[in-house]
Amino acid sequence: MRDRGFGNEELMTSRLSLRRPTPADIDLIHAVHRDPRTCAHNPADMLDTRADAEDLYRRWDDHWQRWGFGYWVIHSGRSGLGFCGMKLMRLKDQDVLNLFYRLDPVAWGEGVATEAAMAVVGWASAHRPDHPVIARVRPENAASQRVAVKAGLHRAEHLDTQGEDGLDWIFTSHRP
Ligand SMILES: CC(C)(COP(=O)(O)OP(=O)(O)OC[C@H]1O[C@@H](n2cnc3c(N)ncnc32)[C@H](O)[C@@H]1OP(=O)(O)O)[C@@H](O)C(=O)NCCC(=O)NCCS
Repeated sequence: MRDRGFGNEELMTSRLSLRRPTPADIDLIHAVHRDPRTCAHNPADMLDTRADAEDLYRRWDDHWQRWGFGYWVIHSGRSGLGFCGMKLMRLKDQDVLNLFYRLDPVAWGEGVATEAAMAVVGWASAHRPDHPVIARVRPENAASQRVAVKAGLHRAEHLDTQGEDGLDWIFTSHRP
């Protein structure tokens, strides 16, 4: 893991590098989020226009500026494969780090999300140990649930909540 200073840290794994998004990533944000396959379980996340992707990039960048971490762009060589990271949010009166991953379907099924999520959860346990990492996953999204578990999270039924697209199952890094 290379530390480039507060708010600009790059994470390295055996196959991937995870980098803070820049405006050059807006096209990838747009491409991934307008593909109905990537939002099949979370239709509220779908983006229509490039302007929507610019807005989303700005929100991601605001989070980085404010908290020194956020969503990373997953790179393999020169290609951007998608996104993985965390956003600070409240869940049942507690500050938590909400884990997120969304990949271009061309990269699915090769362990990329698991590798990226493990790096992000490892970063959180080293740098934000007081905050549980949680994942909010739709009950039918088996691939996402597998990624959460393989990244070290476990099912926490008592935290389940209604999300924008219906019931979210909660997975957490902290034992109750
Ligand atoms: C969820 C997602 C990130 C997984 O990415 P990925 O790189 O293909 O995941 P991995 O290759 O690391 O595989 C993770 C596990 O899911 C399993 N899996 C993959 N697709 C599956 C499916 N359709 N049903 C059940 N399990 C599945 C894999 O077999 C693997 O488990 P295993 O190692 O025990 O065999 C990817 O499918 C995606 O971007 N989906 C759309 C966005 C999304 O739903 N994000 C989560 C929102 S909560």
